[in-house]
Amino acid sequence: MKLWGGRFRKETDSLVNDFNSSIHFDCRMYKEDIEGSIAHAAMLSDCGIISPEDKDQITAGLKEILANIEAGKIEFTADNEDIHMNVEALLTEKIGAAGKRLHTARSRNDQVAVDLRLYLRREIDEIVGQILDLQQAVLDQASLHQETVMPGYTHLQRAQPVSFAHHLLAYGEQLKRDVTRLLDCKARMNICPLGSGALAGTTYPIDRWQTAKLLGFDAPCSNSLDGVSDRDYAVELLSGLSILMMHLSRFAEEVILWCSWEFKFIELDDAYSTGSSIMPQKKNPDVAELVRGKTGRVYGHLMGLLTTMKGLPLAYNKDMQEDKEPVFDAIDTVKMCLPVFAGMIATMRVLPQNMRRAAGGGFINATDCADYLTKKGMPFRDAYTTVGNLVYYCTENGKLLEELTLPELQNISPLFGEDVYEALRLETCMGQRSSFGGPAVEETGRQIHTLAAFIVQQREGLHGA
Ligand code: ARG
Repeated sequence: MKLWGGRFRKETDSLVNDFNSSIHFDCRMYKEDIEGSIAHAAMLSDCGIISPEDKDQITAGLKEILANIEAGKIEFTADNEDIHMNVEALLTEKIGAAGKRLHTARSRNDQVAVDLRLYLRREIDEIVGQILDLQQAVLDQASLHQETVMPGYTHLQRAQPVSFAHHLLAYGEQLKRDVTRLLDCKARMNICPLGSGALAGTTYPIDRWQTAKLLGFDAPCSNSLDGVSDRDYAVELLSGLSILMMHLSRFAEEVILWCSWEFKFIELDDAYSTGSSIMPQKKNPDVAELVRGKTGRVYGHLMGLLTTMKGLPLAYNKDMQEDKEPVFDAIDTVKMCLPVFAGMIATMRVLPQNMRRAAGGGFINATDCADYLTKKGMPFRDAYTTVGNLVYYCTENGKLLEELTLPELQNISPLFGEDVYEALRLETCMGQRSSFGGPAVEETGRQIHTLAAFIVQQREGLHGA
């Protein structure tokens, strides 16, 4: 008979039994479910709601069940619907009457909300650790390439010179925000719904602060209806993961472009590339493409859960059982992507000569040429037009700006002097861009330093130092 079978006179239809059950996916919260129950039992006993003997039996029984689950000795059953009722049934089977007292002053509605928050809290820490590993790979590559000139792009058109370090460090910054965004989400998530009961609290003299504290939450949630109703924390996590995947996907796209023959700025390590079944020459960036592809999957889960939650009246509705699979799959996906991406970045071979060659074409020193005239006294807008005319002249004559002779330059403006050639060198152009946040070596040095400090500080935070 079902745990809730008292009111019923018929067995559940077997199709309904399977349809209704969530054990095949919520079983992954077994540890959190048991942790929550142990805290609940301790509080019930301290508040005189169950006896200390019952509490001891419950605690020992639950610990044994945990060990058995971890040893692979337990088979959960869809007949007991979900992880909460599976554990309770196992406990009662083991210890009898005391097991039946565990659910006093509690409902599966507050139980599932606690379990999910505990579970997601842990996963956030793991994901943050993986992002830090990726940042380290970015940092290591950036440290090697502060002097490596490459074209910076806008509209995928060569625009101005940057260094490869500067380019990589942009991703370092984006990943920093991903870390703090996920930690913000965790901080908001860290409120305990246990004690909300089914929706309206309980008549027993429970101590919600005690369970909150035992489980490492900052406080109990202050409205019981809210405690069992909202899944905003799961939506927020999916949103943080979606933004993270957006960053990875853009980075992946660049890796794909960079290792194409058209760019050849990098070559991926053999261990992070794949071949073709027909074209013997092929070396494909499948890892980067899959990361880009899986981004759609994570976005989909965000939209899915937002849509599930939309329009649900307070408080709990069974629709909300649909929260777990998307958030679990998004977590699994992100946790697969991050380490493989970090490995790909750490092992890629950078080809500075090819970057330098690409930087040499496309007139990416044109702004610097205008700045040269401006510094000699010409208003910037006039200098801009003058250099525009020069670029046109160059394209007509198949020359680069730095290949023009001084008479050719002076023909357009008498302000040009011999020092223009030094000003047009890409290394100068990049080195002069020393404004805060720019590509000059002293600035990328500062960015590298800040990123390294961030990684250390966040790792300490994760390990509770
Ligand atoms: N398996 C359920 C879920 O994931 C647990 C809560 C069930 N509560 C209920 N009243 N049926 O949402």
